[in-house]
Amino acid sequence: EKQGFRHFMLKEIFEQPGVVRTCLEAYISSDWSAGENDSSSAIPDQNPVAGDTPSITTPIQLGLPESLYENLEHVQILACGTSWHASLVGKYLIEQLAGIPTMVQYASEFRYAPSPLTRNTLTIGVTQSGETADTLAALEMEKRRRIGLGQEYQPRLVGITNRSESSLAHLVPHIIETFAGMEIGVAATKTFVTQLVVFYCLALDLAYQRQTLPPSRIAEIIAGLRQLPSQIELVLSRQEHYLEELAHEFDETQDFIFLGRGINFPIALEGALKLKEVSYIHAEGYPAGEMKHGPIALLDSKVPVVAIAMPGTVYEKVLSNAQEAKARDARLIGVTPMHDPEAAQTFDILLSVPVVEELLSPILAVMPLQLLAYHIAARRGLDVDQPRNLAKSVTVE
Ligand code: F6R
Repeated sequence: EKQGFRHFMLKEIFEQPGVVRTCLEAYISSDWSAGENDSSSAIPDQNPVAGDTPSITTPIQLGLPESLYENLEHVQILACGTSWHASLVGKYLIEQLAGIPTMVQYASEFRYAPSPLTRNTLTIGVTQSGETADTLAALEMEKRRRIGLGQEYQPRLVGITNRSESSLAHLVPHIIETFAGMEIGVAATKTFVTQLVVFYCLALDLAYQRQTLPPSRIAEIIAGLRQLPSQIELVLSRQEHYLEELAHEFDETQDFIFLGRGINFPIALEGALKLKEVSYIHAEGYPAGEMKHGPIALLDSKVPVVAIAMPGTVYEKVLSNAQEAKARDARLIGVTPMHDPEAAQTFDILLSVPVVEELLSPILAVMPLQLLAYHIAARRGLDVDQPRNLAKSVTVE
């Protein structure tokens, strides 16, 4: 059932173009386009009569009741591990596209020190398995402490999961499924990227309903999202053998640093976590601008630095942060846009991906990092699908 792949992890990495496509198709209306919706008639009815079917199609259909978005002032996201990383990208999207202040908390921390209650808050639990004990308990606690506090504090709970039949579904009234299919490898790969897809859809839906973006901009982002499956395919096919070859250069490596900024900071965290989990190499993900506040002391020729440098608001900044690392003799690996002379000058090793707008870059940037982690681990002869000490779902506290 590995379909010719050596490990489930590799098979699941290669399933990503397909599952991203499925997930996009599930939530983005095929009959909505900017052209016909760009006029003022595209603005949704501000006071729809309850139960009325909307007169125009909305771009995103998540199946959530309108009441969840009413007077929304805050979003709060609870998750663990890789799902927490996806949530950090979600925060960036919800804040930047829909303008809603968003907090992301580790469920295991939140349980014992919950933030003071905010009004009109949407609480989202993100767990691919739907069984993570800390995430379930944090959601349960949030529900309990809001009940009975009056309308403005009523719980509004949504779960994002790959398992619609899981315990999560009994706890929250609304589930957004990630449609990644069964994931067997312990290291989350395809469930992570589909969580990202769901966050794009949620942020765009909020932006549309709250009119924080014009329909033409929403259409532009949707068009970009629809390109992703074939772009992922391209990255995977171009880099698979290259990374397999490259992996032997890290036979002796004991530490890695991953740098990213803005929307790609969580991708640096995710790259480091994947490497730790499956290869047992110590790795740290850091916001590139924070390197000089401490971790730069770790750098020497034995510590490779992987920097995610995608065109956009922080591109030049990341390149200059990478140069600081190079000045300490670090081997520099760049996840960079294709055919970029500036990147080619800066990095020793280029893992290039198609040029897309910054907002859409995380889904492409994570691909080479998953492959890097996989190939280093496979080369070391490790049990990639069942790393020591880890379980697919953590059902104990
Ligand atoms: C990482 C990984 C773990 C999980 C974490 C949360 O590859 O698998 O960090 O992401 O245990 O799991 P879920 O999403 O099932 O709540």
